[in-house]
Amino acid sequence: MKQLTQIGLMLVLSNFMTSCNGQTNKGNQSQKSNDKSVLVGGNFENSEFTYYGIPKHISSIDTSPGWNLKGDKILLTGVVYQQDGKTPAPNVLLYYYQTNTEGRYVHKPEEKRSMPPNNLGQTHGYIRGWVKTDAEGKYAIYTVKPGSYPIHAEPAHIHVTVKEPNEIKEYYIDDFVFEDDKLLTATKRQRLENRCGSGILNLVPNGDLQIGERNLILGLNVSGYPKKQGVN
Ligand SMILES: [Fe+2]
Repeated sequence: MKQLTQIGLMLVLSNFMTSCNGQTNKGNQSQKSNDKSVLVGGNFENSEFTYYGIPKHISSIDTSPGWNLKGDKILLTGVVYQQDGKTPAPNVLLYYYQTNTEGRYVHKPEEKRSMPPNNLGQTHGYIRGWVKTDAEGKYAIYTVKPGSYPIHAEPAHIHVTVKEPNEIKEYYIDDFVFEDDKLLTATKRQRLENRCGSGILNLVPNGDLQIGERNLILGLNVSGYPKKQGVN
């Protein structure tokens, strides 16, 4: 019986590890694949999860399925800029996914956006969604502040993947993380890649809400990103 429990725990551990490894860089070489999409920033596992259940029409403003959970309500917002850091980039898709307030990626079949685990037990759970930047490059995501993983000391985070309206393949960028998170140690800060700019948020209280602003610069610190690649 004890052995069974241990096996169960290992499966749970493995699920947590694999579900977060979605954003692991598997290489640094830029290359073109057969479908003519341009790979930047290296391959990353489960990049196709970006499109699982994606709706036809995507707004620049989204409320996540975690919004109604008991916890800190946050607004993630900012402007996405082109490579020059000045020109707003419209129609850029941002896909996000996060844990619940207990640090778990949970599949909830009754939730429309929920993703059932694949045959390796990997899932992005149900607190996930998409925004597409408006004409001014703006986006806004209303959600609940995620908890940190219950089993290892990773800072609380929200994963983000970018898909630009061009031939560049989707690529992951730095997670949204929180300046006041004790688990965001000096060592961890040093290791951040700052893809498209820093993901560290200074949450500013605004009534019942806390607002975290993050502007993105497309391709910044993303290996293999084509120079002067514009977004139409
Ligand atoms: Fe994660």
